[in-house]
Amino acid sequence: MGNNGYAAWLRYDEVTGTELAAQYAEWTKEIVIPSGVPIEGVLKTAVMELSRGVRSLLETAPSVTHESSQERFIVLDVLGGETWVDKVMGDVSVISDEGYILKTVREGEREYIVAAGLTEKGVLYAAFHLLRLMQSGASLDQLDLVESPKYSLRMINHWDNIDGSVERGYSGRSIFYENNKVLSDAERIRDYARLMASVGINGIAINNVNVHREETFLITEKLLPDVARIAEVFGEYGIKLFLSVNYAGTIEIGGLETADPLDERVRAWWKDKAAEVYRYIPDFGGFLVKADSENRPGPFTYGRDHADGANMLAEALEPYGGLVLWRCFVYNCHQDWRDRSTDRARAAFDHFKPLDGRFKDNVILQIKNGPMDFQVREPVSPLFGAMEHTNQMMEFQIAQEYTGQQRDVCFLIPQWKEVLNFDTHVKGAGSTVKEIAAGQVHAYTHSGITAVSNIGNDENWTGHHLAQANLYGYGRLVWNPELTSEEIAREWAAQTFGSNEKVQDFSVNFLLQSWSIYENYTAPLGVGWMVTPHYHYGPDIDGYEYSKWGTYHFADHKGIGVDRTIATGTGYTGQYMKTNAEIYDSLDSCPDELLLFFHHVPYTHQLKSGKTIIQHIYDTHFAGVEQVEYWISRWLELEGLVDEDRFHHVAGRMNKQLENAKQWRDIVNTYFFRKSGIPDAQNRVIY
Ligand code: GCU
Repeated sequence: MGNNGYAAWLRYDEVTGTELAAQYAEWTKEIVIPSGVPIEGVLKTAVMELSRGVRSLLETAPSVTHESSQERFIVLDVLGGETWVDKVMGDVSVISDEGYILKTVREGEREYIVAAGLTEKGVLYAAFHLLRLMQSGASLDQLDLVESPKYSLRMINHWDNIDGSVERGYSGRSIFYENNKVLSDAERIRDYARLMASVGINGIAINNVNVHREETFLITEKLLPDVARIAEVFGEYGIKLFLSVNYAGTIEIGGLETADPLDERVRAWWKDKAAEVYRYIPDFGGFLVKADSENRPGPFTYGRDHADGANMLAEALEPYGGLVLWRCFVYNCHQDWRDRSTDRARAAFDHFKPLDGRFKDNVILQIKNGPMDFQVREPVSPLFGAMEHTNQMMEFQIAQEYTGQQRDVCFLIPQWKEVLNFDTHVKGAGSTVKEIAAGQVHAYTHSGITAVSNIGNDENWTGHHLAQANLYGYGRLVWNPELTSEEIAREWAAQTFGSNEKVQDFSVNFLLQSWSIYENYTAPLGVGWMVTPHYHYGPDIDGYEYSKWGTYHFADHKGIGVDRTIATGTGYTGQYMKTNAEIYDSLDSCPDELLLFFHHVPYTHQLKSGKTIIQHIYDTHFAGVEQVEYWISRWLELEGLVDEDRFHHVAGRMNKQLENAKQWRDIVNTYFFRKSGIPDAQNRVIY
């Protein structure tokens, strides 16, 4: 296996020579598909993937047959039919649609591992699970597992443009497009589908939510044949393809002068479009829409609201079972910084909450995890769970736009877990985001989780090798949010770097600390931003302070932070249910890490940690740099234990991270020292 990172966590490095390898070899001589079950579609993919993995791990090719001739074998089956496996398995009501069962069965002379689901997809996931076990050195002798995904929609959103660029892409160019063409070499796309299916992803939107002129044609006969080819490859891996659409399609390419959602001609145009798309792609997932957001067109132009706009598209997709994923990232991006009463954090809730109950059943509101924009630290969006009668799904960002851009390491699973575990209290205690997104607090017809992709055509997909852990971890987390960050990190490290414990421990421990390290040297205590405008990497404390984007920290010589309280601030805290509103509203109970998101306080204000704000800023910024230095030294100890390619690559990236951390430390500390005039209690160097 090459060491350029291309195989990511599907390396299947040879494991021959060990006792376990001998065990695996016994089990995998034969892959049995019960007779009567046709080896086609996703089941065929499952057989192919399992054979491929085994070949690579053990250097022997399993035979694929309908009748077993061995004493030990693996049987793949879609349950619910009439096969002998069905009879053995009995009641399978514990398995969900896309779930599966992995069970070692002993029956007289013969022993076999059942890898089965109620659907072909389930079987594919079971096959990948088996491979994961073999890659991480687990025994197959006593399997007894039932796995079901927590979320029905487990999606990825690409922000890829048809010219080949990727908005907020930090790992090369698009794997789907170049030069206004859909790429015809489907091999890389197939490899991508393999990676995604191996962690259970079942829907991918392949173009940027900002749909420009050329991408508007993705839903026309000009480009649909090409898109259909991608959909076909995805389909083999159980993944539905979604497209972002231009809300003003009727004007841009439809020959109409309006995009009014209540205009009959507009409605008819979209119905024809939907019919056309489904002619090319029978299992098309649906449309993803960014409307009336950051200068994109939308229903507001016609005096209509978001329900009108979304329902118009939903009506068109309804006959085919298609979905409308309607984004709630709607706010005034032309704010006057002098205007202290407008609060961008309030916007999504203010726009959408009043529309509860007005959306069609095949619309899902897609809500970013925080009220601002994927900052290193934000509270959970108060809109999540606040609409009992409207389907919702969560949007995360795997791409590290504001969290180090895949040059700095920032393992985001712990952040996402905090979000998922947040108790909204919308239906009393226990109304966690995790359950809401699963449709288990309100009875949503559709729900789930999506995230902005972090891949590109870099050899290793994600720029930084270690950024692959976010992609892997995202998939695993939205399959099973009960997995701990540590479990996920360890699984990933074992498959990516092999069995050496030192390397695994480094990966796990560094990954687990990386979010807090990144937070240490960047914007403090939830205040966010302070980044280089537009580019969003590196510090620029006042970069957005006098801009139109609604992203301010309000630092002056006395203090810093945004007053979002009910009594004296923007009233944002009042969008939460009472329990949370009270916690955030009060200086006493507001958690330290979000203090400056909710309150404007003097630099001398004492945190629960006992430190003043200013000393906290100094300490964390010095600490952040020291932590990066420490982890670099730990990585350097692994020379010889990690292949050279990846060793040098990671070392190089970590040195860049160190430069960035120092830049942040010195600029933040200097800025606040000059503003406040308060010296560092430890007298360290501040400029
Ligand atoms: C962020 C990001 C944009 C993106 C937008 C969105 O603001 O910087 O590039 O288009 O989010 O989510 O729509």
